[in-house]
Amino acid sequence: MDSRIGVVGSNNVDLITYIERMPKPGETLEAPDFAMGFGGKGANQAVAAARLGAQVSMVTRIGDDLFGPQQMQNFRENGIDTTHVLVAAGKPSGVAPIMVRPDGENSILIVQGANAALSPADVDAAWDMLAGCRLILLQLEVPLETVYRVIELAVRDGVATILNPAPAAPGLDLARLDGLTFLAPNEPELAMLTGMPTGTEDETLAAAQTLISRGIGQVIVTLGGRGALLVTGQGSERIAPVKVKPVDTTGAGDAFLGSFAHFHAAGQPVAEALAQAARYAALSVTRRGTQTSYADAEAFKAFCDTLG
Ligand code: RIB
Ligand code: NA
Repeated sequence: MDSRIGVVGSNNVDLITYIERMPKPGETLEAPDFAMGFGGKGANQAVAAARLGAQVSMVTRIGDDLFGPQQMQNFRENGIDTTHVLVAAGKPSGVAPIMVRPDGENSILIVQGANAALSPADVDAAWDMLAGCRLILLQLEVPLETVYRVIELAVRDGVATILNPAPAAPGLDLARLDGLTFLAPNEPELAMLTGMPTGTEDETLAAAQTLISRGIGQVIVTLGGRGALLVTGQGSERIAPVKVKPVDTTGAGDAFLGSFAHFHAAGQPVAEALAQAARYAALSVTRRGTQTSYADAEAFKAFCDTLG
C-alpha cells in the first residue's frame, strides 16, 4: 500500500457571481463580477491534496460537452491520475451556479449532470486501484449507491475512508456507513444524520458520539469559522480556527478535507493533520474562487510562516 489518495466523487464547472445582495423575485440586478472555474466537491478535494504533493487518483464521470475535455485537462495539469475519469455519454457536465456576497459567504446551486452517472459498477472497475490507496475520500454529489459500494468494499478490504456527507442528503442511511473510518459533517449535516440538535457544543458532541456508537470510527465536525471538533471513541478534541479576513469561502470545506487527507496519509496523526488542514482552508478563504484558491506546498508554507 502506498500513500496514494483515491477520490470517488463529483466534478463541476463553478459559475461564480460576486454579488452585493440577492436579487428579489422578478428583479434584475447588476453584479460586480463573475468568474468561471473548476469545482465539484470530489474534484476540489482531489486538487487540494494534489497541490500539496499527494499522489491522487480520481474516479469520476465528466460531461459529454465542451466542459468535459477541460475537466480532464484540469485533472492532468494538477498531476491527478485520470485512468478512472470516464465520459458520461450524452450527459451534460455538472455545473454549480454560485453567488458570493461581499462578506465572503456563498450560496450554491448544483446541477448534477454527468455526476449522476457515476455508478457502483464504476467503483468495481476502479477497485484494484482504490484497494491500494492509503485513504479514499467520498462526498454526496454522486449517487448514494455508489458511495455505499465504496464503503462496503473498503470495509471488506480494510481501506480507510473519509465521507464528507455534503450536500446534506435526507436519504442517507446511517446503517450503510458502518465501518467508515472518518465521517466529516458540518453541524446541519450532523443534525440531519442523527435527528439530534446541534445548537450548542455539548449537543454537537453528544450527536457525534451517537455516530461512534453506530459504527463510525471517528467524527470530524466542521464548525466553519469556529474550527472543528474531533470525536473518537476515546474522547474529543477541539481544533482551533485560524482567523483570516474572508474574501470567498467557496470550497473551504473541500480545502480542509483534501488537505487533511494529504497530511494524514503522509503520516501525521489525526489531530495534527486537522490543525494543518484548518490553516490550509483558512488560506483558501482569503483567495477568490474554488480550486483557484488552493495553494501549493510552497505557498502554504509561506502562509504558515506568517502565522508564526
Ligand atoms: O464545496 C464547494 C463546491 O460545491 C463547489 O465547487 C461546487 O461545484 C459544489 O460542488
Ligand atoms: Na476561496
